[in-house]
Amino acid sequence: MKFFADTADIGEIRSLNEAGLIDGVTTNPSLIKKAGRDFREAIAEICDATTGPVSAEVVALDAAGMEKEGRSLATIADNVAVKLPLTIDGLKACRRLSGDGIKTNVTLCFSANQALLAAKAGASFISPFIGRLDDIHADGLALIREIRGIYDNYGFRTEILAASIRSPNHVKECALIGADVVTAPPAVLWRLADHPLTDKGLEAFLKDWAATGQSVL
Ligand code: E4P
Repeated sequence: MKFFADTADIGEIRSLNEAGLIDGVTTNPSLIKKAGRDFREAIAEICDATTGPVSAEVVALDAAGMEKEGRSLATIADNVAVKLPLTIDGLKACRRLSGDGIKTNVTLCFSANQALLAAKAGASFISPFIGRLDDIHADGLALIREIRGIYDNYGFRTEILAASIRSPNHVKECALIGADVVTAPPAVLWRLADHPLTDKGLEAFLKDWAATGQSVL
């Protein structure tokens, strides 16, 4: 299973990378706004900091405009994945870009049928949003389960990139279901290492070690 960092914060991306915690990055216009950076400059820097795919989102609404923006974004670096919204125009642009070997990530997916269309359009990644479904009292994880079943039924190669992750529990459930990738905010990725018994155990070991009066080196 791959982990992507859902952020445009280059400092966080570098730290996560050093810890070997990430295999790629996803951004969106809101994350670019939050980072307060020039879009193309930020994407170039992130692409340089990781060898994995880096999603950069188009903002045009028509297929021709999305395709033009997507082709331009793809020139920034080889590891750019062009992020396109799950609309009919987004699917048309996806088909054209994927057909030319450009990586694509179809985003804002909230139903299994939408995911089916993205796979048929040749998307490299489909991004179902778990947290936003949970926010409206729907079941985000059930959507991941449905998509996994459908993709397996037909052998679709589109990778399920579980998005809008809000907790370590979302990550664990996605791993159990068999999502190919989760993209999570850095705070959630760091918290995957946390366990109170680890802290308690470490404290006890260090106390006992100090009592021996020995040194390791
Ligand atoms: C996915 O690629 C999106 O950037 C992201 O996961 C959206 O998450 P949010 O619902 O927390 O904004």
